[in-house]
Amino acid sequence: MERVQKVISNLGYASRREAEKLISEGKVYINDRVASLGDKVSSSDIIKIDGNILDKNKNTKVYYLLNKPRGVVSTVKDEKGRKTVIDLIDTKERIYPIGRLDYDTTGVLLLTNDGELTNKLLHPSNNIEKVYLAKIEGKITGSAINKLKSGVKIDNIKTSPCFVKLKSYNLKTNTSMVEIRIHEGHNHQVKKMFESVGYKVSKLTRLRFAFLDTTNLKPGEYRVLSIKEVKKLYSLIK
Ligand code: URA
Repeated sequence: MERVQKVISNLGYASRREAEKLISEGKVYINDRVASLGDKVSSSDIIKIDGNILDKNKNTKVYYLLNKPRGVVSTVKDEKGRKTVIDLIDTKERIYPIGRLDYDTTGVLLLTNDGELTNKLLHPSNNIEKVYLAKIEGKITGSAINKLKSGVKIDNIKTSPCFVKLKSYNLKTNTSMVEIRIHEGHNHQVKKMFESVGYKVSKLTRLRFAFLDTTNLKPGEYRVLSIKEVKKLYSLIK
């Protein structure tokens, strides 16, 4: 017996969080009875979502690496009707992004229908490294960099120690380019970290997620991950 939200996400129908939302909204049925969060199901139970029976034999997993452009939301649907990252990918599978990048953030974003991999890559205990390049207004000081390195308070939580490096300073535009490598994934974490030491991020790019970067991909372009890359991602998680 397994929890219904886990079965839904393992079958690649939705992420665990989305599956929980569908259950809370009363859209999931187990053997024609409305499911509740935490209900357990066995392989003989019939799960229905929005009227469609979940096919337990259908298990095609797909994995994409997108160089996310600016001006696109990282959700499956947007209430305001804005373009989403899903619109950029030509697939019949129901995919979703592994984590989020802000509307104006560019760079590496993975998308898949593999719920198990998604949950594990996003779980803080797996310590996946995310590398960002931030354009900062003004000349960042060594003391601000040291504070960021040792951890700052954002939304009442202290960020973990991380790698931070000033890459360049442009006197003409009075902007600094700073590389930051984090292992957590709090909401707007990078922008809030810089804000907490008095700086505004004017541009943000994710250069790398784990070992994956945007080599040969222009913003808006994507590619399918190789089997070797998917196996390598699995090797990083517990
Ligand atoms: N941190 C941010 O502030 N924004 C992103 O898009 C990603 C990390």
